[in-house]
Amino acid sequence: MAMEYSEKVMDHFMNPRNVGEIEDADGVGEVGNAKCGDIMKMYLKIEDDIIKDVKFKTFGCGSAIATSSIATEMIKGKHIEEAAKLTNKAVVEALEGLPKVKVHCSVLAEQAIKAALSDYYKRNGIDPEPILGKIPPAESCHIHD
Ligand code: FES
Repeated sequence: MAMEYSEKVMDHFMNPRNVGEIEDADGVGEVGNAKCGDIMKMYLKIEDDIIKDVKFKTFGCGSAIATSSIATEMIKGKHIEEAAKLTNKAVVEALEGLPKVKVHCSVLAEQAIKAALSDYYKRNGIDPEPILGKIPPAESCHIHD
């Protein structure tokens, strides 16, 4: 049986928003999965703790592209503390759902944002772990299990 994708997923997959990179980013995060080989890289431009700009690059499946696209829209203009709270569940809801076997792809978006924020905190001499929790290194992510 063919998988059912919502119109929102198709829209963000076909026309992803905020694709690219930010050369002078204040935080960069990369997460990936060793099994499917999908990689997501997130760039943040932050001023006064507000996310002024965000760009991403995803080398991965359609669901991963759609989730990163909508996740960038959801955190743009937000305070970093609010962005840190973005869950993959909220991303899936904003996409009006994902097929069950694809929900794990949305975890990449949440983790890429956290990794970029973590980089930002570290650059500013702040320990990110109490704020963001532990972020798995790119290759040890087992979200496809
Ligand atoms: Fe790997 Fe979707 S199949 S992120």
